[in-house]
Amino acid sequence: MKAIAINGSPRRGWNTEKLLKEALRGAESVGAETRLVQLYDLNYTGCKSCFGCKRKGEELYCCILKDNLSPVLEEIFEADALLLGSPIYFGNISGQMASFIERLGFPLLSYDDYTKRLFNGKINSALFYTMNVPEEFYKSHMEQSLQNRVGILQRLGGLVEVYAACDTYQFTDYSKYHTATFDEGHKRKVRDEQFPKDLKAAYEIGRRLMIDKL
Ligand SMILES: Cc1cc2nc3c(=O)[nH]c(=O)nc-3n(C[C@H](O)[C@H](O)[C@H](O)COP(=O)(O)O)c2cc1C
Repeated sequence: MKAIAINGSPRRGWNTEKLLKEALRGAESVGAETRLVQLYDLNYTGCKSCFGCKRKGEELYCCILKDNLSPVLEEIFEADALLLGSPIYFGNISGQMASFIERLGFPLLSYDDYTKRLFNGKINSALFYTMNVPEEFYKSHMEQSLQNRVGILQRLGGLVEVYAACDTYQFTDYSKYHTATFDEGHKRKVRDEQFPKDLKAAYEIGRRLMIDKL
């Protein structure tokens, strides 16, 4: 059994990566082999609309473009679980994660029949979002608009879970930056009291997705 995590944050060791590492630990707890891919280390683009995956005579579910992302995409289709993590930038997933999802998702979509599944395996998946806004704002303004990624991941044939870690701690030292709109005391409280719960939830998701594949 294998679980692959994809970090769509440029910041090593920060909120998004921490959640992904916990999810991987959860997967490891039931025997999965794991790997963490750093998108910001890779040289790749989003979909180039070459339509190589839509040519007649072939039914490709994996992107044919060749760059640093190609081996990662191939590895994903051999895996049992795919764990995606992204910070929220201007209300959306990071640019690197958006490009990654274009490359993963477009070949999975049949232009002959939107209901048809081109990939017949089963890869369980999870989306982890981290963001500055509090959970109430995420629920009222963002949860719905981020839902479209779930539909893409459902084409992998497995369970799809979504988890949002809100009100994240953003700086090692708030006093060194222009951060007057944030209450650092509140941020520290969330980091110390809520974020450990987020990590635990991520662990449980990683574990659950693998148990389903046993
Ligand atoms: C360019 C940029 C845009 C951001 N936009 C938003 C936003 O629209 N909403 C939000 O809640 N947080 C926003 N944030 C904050 C990050 O989403 C948040 O700090 C996240 O947890 C960072 O993840 P990381 O610690 O893994 O880097 C933004 C941060 C940056 C750098």
